[in-house]
Amino acid sequence: MQGAEVDSDRRRATADPRPTRAVVVGLGYVGLPTALSLAEAGITVTGVDIDENRLLAIKSQHVDISDADRERLSRALSAGRLAVTTNAAAISEAEAVLISVPTPVDTHLVPDMRALTAACASVVANAVPDQTIVLTSTTYVGCTRDLIAEPLRHRNGWTVGEDVHVAFSPERIDPGVTRHDRRATPRVVGGVTTECGRRAEAAVAATAAAVHTVTSPEAAELTKLLENSFRAVNIAMVNEFADSCRAFGVDPIEVIEAAATKPYGFMPFHPGPGVGGHCIPCDTHYLLWQLRAQRLPAPLMNAAMGSIAARPRRVVDRARQLLADRGKPFAGADVLVLGVAYKPGVADVRESPALEIMSELTASGVRVSYADPYVPSVELGETTLLSGEGVEARAWDLVIVHTVHPGQDPAWLSGQDVVLDTTYRLDKRLRCAHL
Ligand SMILES: NC(=O)c1ccc[n+]([C@@H]2O[C@H](COP(=O)([O-])OP(=O)(O)OC[C@H]3O[C@@H](n4cnc5c(N)ncnc54)[C@H](O)[C@@H]3O)[C@@H](O)[C@H]2O)c1
Repeated sequence: MQGAEVDSDRRRATADPRPTRAVVVGLGYVGLPTALSLAEAGITVTGVDIDENRLLAIKSQHVDISDADRERLSRALSAGRLAVTTNAAAISEAEAVLISVPTPVDTHLVPDMRALTAACASVVANAVPDQTIVLTSTTYVGCTRDLIAEPLRHRNGWTVGEDVHVAFSPERIDPGVTRHDRRATPRVVGGVTTECGRRAEAAVAATAAAVHTVTSPEAAELTKLLENSFRAVNIAMVNEFADSCRAFGVDPIEVIEAAATKPYGFMPFHPGPGVGGHCIPCDTHYLLWQLRAQRLPAPLMNAAMGSIAARPRRVVDRARQLLADRGKPFAGADVLVLGVAYKPGVADVRESPALEIMSELTASGVRVSYADPYVPSVELGETTLLSGEGVEARAWDLVIVHTVHPGQDPAWLSGQDVVLDTTYRLDKRLRCAHL
């Protein structure tokens, strides 16, 4: 920290840092619930998003959020606590700005920074003195300084920590999973200076009961990369372990549940058809990309990311084998994929393994149908598939269970010839095959 930044921290430490007006840039799976939490805490919020359709859906309350969030949305809109706009000029009216735009990877698994670069540029262009800017999108190490702190210094000549405050605070929301209360989940904050951290803490405190402050944005950026790399490595390992259990004719879930009775040194992960969403399949690549530039090998994380990426193809291989075992040719087989969202309880199909599974099946000549009450249609290359109706009444050559949503009763599967349960969670009495 530079001397001027330390002095400024001391001068400002007494001011009440709680914002009364906030802007959330990017109103997706993370940004919208964030805006609702801020509004609920009595802060007047404006959501800025480039997608007009998304804003219309929010205003008409037709968005993929939990029932509790839908109620919060209705309350926030009717109380005038939440407004939405495509106009980035709204940023200049806020004391606190939280950025939550997508950070995916491209087809070469290289970070696709276009949305984040554009969002940060518009925040910098509209920043006003004394504002607190908190980046919450998962990103590479040093990004908060590169895209926000340094441009503010160059563009406006401002001293960060004095004229403006900048921090990184990773998001830990788990959309669709109500047992993880977002408010009960602590947040991590890392400011460019101590005062930046204090201001950012006050802004994110509205979304979480506890805030853990680290000494820099880089430490906070790395915290998120550690959390999700930890998950990626463990998911890859448990998939491998499930395959090993099958080689011994043992139920992997029985083994995982038994291991989970150990009160320390073990955390259960579940095998599956692969990973989806914009977190686990992407985040570690932000770190690996930087490590490659430094010629620093990370063989374990590389292997884990490769292994989880290859999982959908393993599902297809297993499907082929199951049909071959029954003397049925793969090409021309009628296969139903049950559930295509990347996890239960959401309509999100981003990076969903189901898409790759269905594409590979189609490329092999399989006649693929799917059913998912959350996802009315999916795009497979040039083709649009619609979610099937009355799939329970048909006899399929194979049903691949990919996602079971809350409240769905899979008992009808007992009447099907062969079912591949990639979730490992269906009742044993259904006698499903596994990977
Ligand atoms: N979804 C999750 O479960 C989750 C959990 C933790 C962290 N994250 C991270 O949070 C970030 C946001 O993820 P998400 O799932 O909410 O993404 P999302 O795709 O659901 O939403 C992002 C929103 O940002 C908008 N946007 C894009 N560019 C913009 C710009 N320049 N200005 C304003 N708005 C813009 C999009 O229109 C979209 O509505 C990502 O970095 C992600 O890795 C996501």
